[in-house]
Amino acid sequence: MSDAEEMFEDVVLLRGRINGTLCEELVPPAMSLLTFLREGQGLTGTHMGCMTGHCGACTVLIDGKVAKSCLTMAGTVGGTKITTIEGLADADGTLSVIQQAFRDAGSFQCGFCAPGMVLTAVELLAENATPDETEIREALSGNLCRCTGYRSIVAGIRLAAERLAAERG
Ligand code: FES
Repeated sequence: MSDAEEMFEDVVLLRGRINGTLCEELVPPAMSLLTFLREGQGLTGTHMGCMTGHCGACTVLIDGKVAKSCLTMAGTVGGTKITTIEGLADADGTLSVIQQAFRDAGSFQCGFCAPGMVLTAVELLAENATPDETEIREALSGNLCRCTGYRSIVAGIRLAAERLAAERG
């Protein structure tokens, strides 16, 4: 094996889009997407919680579907579109409808779970424009919040659904 082959034996090429920007990086096969996003891309809005797939703090969207980035290997997401919380607002900082609704409904307390909650809401409302409370709570079942009691988060998602419906006319 040549020196070059040895050097790259333990890396995997990640080629995909992160928040709309093409990303090409060599990553160790065992590196989680969470570590790659936080330490490799500086996208620290993706939070590190349990690291076991239970809390949802590390939630991102991969091709529009929620995924726990702590359990996803960075080297497996080539060819996909990854969205983190940083990818939702406009370039000028204007919040997305869902982010603004969370803010207006007081859906944040400590805020640690918030990025994962918002991204889960993005997937939910893309698939179901008018979710009822049971459907919202079901969608949030993979995201834990230790301080709001969920009521205000559900309210934020309902408000977002109303505003998105109004936008659609
Ligand atoms: Fe990934 Fe908790 S840090 S689910």
